[in-house]
Amino acid sequence: MKHSPRQISRRHFIASSATLVTTAVISSATRPLSAADKPLSRQAMGTKVGEATDTTAIVWTRLTAAPERNNQGLLIEGKAKKGKQPPLTVPVHDLEGSCPGAAGQIRVRYSALEDLSDAKTAEWAEVSAETDFTHQFALRGLKPGTVYHYLTETAGPGGTEVHAGFRGRFSTAPAPTATSEVRFCAMTCQGYHDRDHAEGHPIYPAMLELAPHFVAFTGDNVYYDNDAPRAETAEIARYHWERMFSLPRQIDLLRNVTAYFEKDDHDTLSNDSWKGMEMGRLTFDEGQKIFRQQVPLGESCYRTFRWGRDLQIWLTDGRDFRSPNSMPDGPEKTIWGAEQKEWFKRTVAASDATWKVLISPTPLVGPDRGAKNDNHANIGFQTEGDELRSWLQKTVPDNFFVICGDRHWQYLSVHPQTGVREFSCGPASNSHASGSPGEDPAYHRYHRVKGGFVSVTLRREGTHSHILCEHRDVNGKVQHEWRGERPV
Ligand SMILES: [Fe+2]
Repeated sequence: MKHSPRQISRRHFIASSATLVTTAVISSATRPLSAADKPLSRQAMGTKVGEATDTTAIVWTRLTAAPERNNQGLLIEGKAKKGKQPPLTVPVHDLEGSCPGAAGQIRVRYSALEDLSDAKTAEWAEVSAETDFTHQFALRGLKPGTVYHYLTETAGPGGTEVHAGFRGRFSTAPAPTATSEVRFCAMTCQGYHDRDHAEGHPIYPAMLELAPHFVAFTGDNVYYDNDAPRAETAEIARYHWERMFSLPRQIDLLRNVTAYFEKDDHDTLSNDSWKGMEMGRLTFDEGQKIFRQQVPLGESCYRTFRWGRDLQIWLTDGRDFRSPNSMPDGPEKTIWGAEQKEWFKRTVAASDATWKVLISPTPLVGPDRGAKNDNHANIGFQTEGDELRSWLQKTVPDNFFVICGDRHWQYLSVHPQTGVREFSCGPASNSHASGSPGEDPAYHRYHRVKGGFVSVTLRREGTHSHILCEHRDVNGKVQHEWRGERPV
């Protein structure tokens, strides 16, 4: 699979139909890194840099046995059938897109200078099957609002045979008092077989073209249960991550942009799953552990990040603390759990950010299909949904909104009783779009059953902060825009 690098001019002037145009740049000096910049490293899944604050970030790395994914392996196409699975006819490492790991060592060198001439170097870390050959480097003491460059290097066991390195870059958040312009994208629900392009979903180059400061992955990063082969063992579950995140377009985005990851049902275990469930020999607990191995993540899976004076984001977890969906609704039934809910209310109320954005794996507003029973927009979790929506109405009526994943259609909804505003990203490809109960004028300000993503741009103008939320199609074309303005 050959990847053709795109030539992008020095500065990215964002093409927008809006007057709100920004000059966000990935780097002050260069075009995005692409496959052309990759010597044959032994990191076939590239890197992911996440959890960035103004002074810290986590660099995710994995040492692989080969420089490239297994493009010649056996492709098992289509949706996985329910019920007993046919046995694999080949070992997992002989499947299309597999990236077997290798034991050895990894380190990272990083600097605000592109030539890395003053780079700091993290110590070599040993990797083994215990962590699926991954290592996450926690970087500290970074400069706010800065593009960092890095080189991740690998070596064989005991440091023998140092391999070629892998280059990437990421942005740190501006200091909480800084009035920087910020742009980010949010996406969700990427199937493998319905990705609509061999090298990765079209939204990846479309998002990269916008030069966002970060991208939020809201969950269903892989589909253990729906995409064949069904992940009924931990080994096949890890293979789902290998083949998805070794796609050239995925690698190219994640080596250039800071990313935050959330999980949902399909990338923990199975549709609408909760703790204690199993799928074949894969347990929910194993699914939680594998997610933590495959994305950069600190201690907590619910967390908040400040991006300058005007923006704070909250990333929540909807799987680890939930009641069984089968429990009757009532005050004890929860998706977030008591601790996460207390943390959310406390930190949202305490924040003095101009705009407060909850990036949620599942909807709070909806509307959803009547038969669903898994999220705060469903009858099955109505008590907690009502509690949260009315709390938001009382506490942050003017400067808060939700961006949600999970649903396979795009919308902007305003909750009829509480006014809570929610943007649904829509799925990562057009082929993955479906399922809407239809346009509902009581909720919808916008509704579209197609793939795409959401981009958000913040800019200061005089005494006001302007925010622009755009629903984009899979190629990045703006389909709908919503603008907000607040005095600062
Ligand atoms: Fe999904």
